[in-house]
Amino acid sequence: MSRSLLSIDELGADGVRRILDLADTMAEVNRRPNPKVPALRGKTVCSVFFEDSTRTRLSFETAAKRLSADTMTFAASQSSLNKGESLKDTIETIAAMGVDAFVIRHRSTGAPWLVDGWTNASVVNAGDGWHAHPTQGLLDAYTVRTCLNRPDGFDGLRVAIVGDIKHSRVARSTTAAFTALGADVTWVAPSTLLPPVVHEHATDRLDDVIGADGEGLDVLYMLRMQNERMTEALVPNLREYTTRFGLTAERAARLAPQTLVMHPGPINRGVEIAVDPSELPGAVINQQVTNGISVRMAVLYDMLSIGSDPTSDIVITDAVAAERTEES
Ligand code: CP
Repeated sequence: MSRSLLSIDELGADGVRRILDLADTMAEVNRRPNPKVPALRGKTVCSVFFEDSTRTRLSFETAAKRLSADTMTFAASQSSLNKGESLKDTIETIAAMGVDAFVIRHRSTGAPWLVDGWTNASVVNAGDGWHAHPTQGLLDAYTVRTCLNRPDGFDGLRVAIVGDIKHSRVARSTTAAFTALGADVTWVAPSTLLPPVVHEHATDRLDDVIGADGEGLDVLYMLRMQNERMTEALVPNLREYTTRFGLTAERAARLAPQTLVMHPGPINRGVEIAVDPSELPGAVINQQVTNGISVRMAVLYDMLSIGSDPTSDIVITDAVAAERTEES
């Protein structure tokens, strides 16, 4: 159990495995007709997003509700930040209302670590600048684990992460989660879209990585071109980028049927993915979103249920549910 989740590196390989095992239990809850358990009754989870989000914010709020926690949503654009209140004062004000966990997304690298130092509540990093997005890394690892039936780890798994790695917190956290489980991860990008400190396996030759028959690759992970984070033209034009680094129809036809195609969303259709993902046999992009709820339930439960039996509430609820079914 950890008080906060700020990065995959701080969680460590054992922590990654612990969360993924717990996500299996949460996935079982989510398959029930009434996917709700009282595990975090009495706890309050507050979403504090200073950057836009669809998947992460909604899935954290759903995860908290399925564990019976109360939820609060802080809307930065309608807050007293507009009257000059600082981030520290904002966090301390919300904490004073009785918050057990903050889920924070911020454009500045390191903001979740500051928040963690200002409050006794748990803190989840839901994305800080270009730096880290640990629950995305965990849900990606969980998706590979379940879709490729790899419960014991990723030894020998060949993964290519393709695209705008320089600006991608997803690339960093997903690489960290996959390598913690033993995968071999290659970054594929033009040199202008690689960070200054380059992962040891990096190339600009996507076609070599896919190979002639696609058999050399278990996971093809396409990243979004993050135009909003670019302050200069780092690729000549998007058409050329797609030709060299996009999942085109020709490359899709070369993939082995069992190769997973992943993307964190939102997709720039026609740029990094130039085919209809629903027509790719290995595409698991919607499963990533679905798994995000189970993984975020696991993260919240891991942080907030300290001192209680890890699964007792969930198991008891199942028994109670069965009893009620018999009675009705
Ligand atoms: N993958 C991801 O973080 O998506 P959102 O920005 O929609 O949360």
